[in-house]
Amino acid sequence: MIREWMSIVNHQEIASQTYLLELQGEISSLVKRPGQFVHIQVSSQYFLRRPVSIADVSPVKGTITLLYKVMGDGTEALTNKRIGDKLDIVGPGGNGFPVEQKEGEEALLIGGGIGIPPLYYLAKQLTARGVKVNSVLGYRSKADLFYVEEFKALGSVQLTTNDGSAGKQGFVTDALPSLANIDQYYTCGPSIMLKNVKKKLDGLPGYISIEERMGCGIGACFACVLETTESCGKGYVRVCSDGPVFRPEEVVLS
Ligand code: FES
Repeated sequence: MIREWMSIVNHQEIASQTYLLELQGEISSLVKRPGQFVHIQVSSQYFLRRPVSIADVSPVKGTITLLYKVMGDGTEALTNKRIGDKLDIVGPGGNGFPVEQKEGEEALLIGGGIGIPPLYYLAKQLTARGVKVNSVLGYRSKADLFYVEEFKALGSVQLTTNDGSAGKQGFVTDALPSLANIDQYYTCGPSIMLKNVKKKLDGLPGYISIEERMGCGIGACFACVLETTESCGKGYVRVCSDGPVFRPEEVVLS
């Protein structure tokens, strides 16, 4: 993990209040796994850095792509940054999704809202290994859809929206495909969604990525601790440094 001023080479709104931010710099060459994140200092006015997961990496351009949603003043201020500006970034942080499945296996990727972006880089890595990828993507409404075509280019996609304005009305757990051929699942999204996915896919090997409000992002402040299960036996883990990816049987989801 390093700190560097990365250059903005692309920045555009791609869905309602959802932005694509492409940054060029050395951090792009340090990303080891999908599911890792960077910590952005929007400006000196905002003391806390914002954690944003990495949605894609281009070794050719030396860039990482982030997809973020405007959630408050800090991310609102981020939307004003222009191509050519530089951003103070720390990263890549955390341990991402292991990409260990073998050619011919099948994966189920389940993402909700702003939990979807890290699954895109994961889908690319899995398909590159010859793994068949099935994605279930949940959004609030049609105006919030992003990266649907990009996921479709990598495998099958089931869509859900809360209001039914696109895809199936309901939640991701209402649109799961047949699990008969699925070898492993990977999920990222709000904790209530993760809890439901964990329950529904009980018994299937998987990985969950936890979206948690972070402070330091480097394991020092304990703002992101999560209780572990008895069988895990660790007592607690820090989402930022031990995660954000865990086995579902390791952590207690609230
Ligand atoms: Fe500080 Fe995780 S955010 S320990």
